[in-house]
Amino acid sequence: MNPKEVVGRKAADYIEDGMVVGLGTGSTAYWFIDELGLRFQAGTLANIVGVATSKQSEDQARKLGIPVVDIDEVNHIDVLVDGADECTTEFSGIKGGGGALLMEKIVAQHSRTIIWIVTQEKIVDTLGAFPLPVEIVKYGSWKLFRQFDQAGMHPTFRKKGVDSIFITDQGNYIIDLHLEKIPNPQQTAFELKNLVGVVEHGLFINYPDIILAVNDAGEIVTY
Ligand code: 5RP
Repeated sequence: MNPKEVVGRKAADYIEDGMVVGLGTGSTAYWFIDELGLRFQAGTLANIVGVATSKQSEDQARKLGIPVVDIDEVNHIDVLVDGADECTTEFSGIKGGGGALLMEKIVAQHSRTIIWIVTQEKIVDTLGAFPLPVEIVKYGSWKLFRQFDQAGMHPTFRKKGVDSIFITDQGNYIIDLHLEKIPNPQQTAFELKNLVGVVEHGLFINYPDIILAVNDAGEIVTY
């Protein structure tokens, strides 16, 4: 089993039958959803309901038979299991490498318990080596791009393939900021949120309750 599969399947141990489960996005969350599907079909988690953080996760869950409902149909999510691109042991991180940061943050906001599943090398002291995704509306996107450029934030538009621009599930663009280091994530988050045209950014400050980090040998450390 590859480490992402190990930690993804392990995270399913945190789910109890009858729960509303937040379905994360990405290649690690994939294995969590796969394990949920197995347990759903086996009957041990026959009464769970999923709330998806992307079309991709929704499609995967539905194929496995797991009922998926809209976030507005539930009062809260009991447990959300999601991946991350970088995180600290102080429970902050960067998300959005898969382009789902907006839905991921909305689902996280309404989740009672948030579990991040990551490979060990994603645990860092200082965030920022991973490009920070910023979801923006299409209108005026070049204006924002130039603003980021002039501020020395090294922006690039997220692409899909070689030529086409990436469009999020909510119909927006993503600009990735190549910052290298984010010494004060709170300040950066505040500044980004204040820009008109920015829908959401990929800084998740004080989000997860639990981080499960897996090393190459498949051993899991819980933070
Ligand atoms: C998607 C995300 C993912 O959780 C993040 O990119 C980690 O993905 P992976 O498990 O494939 O490394 O934020 O928007």
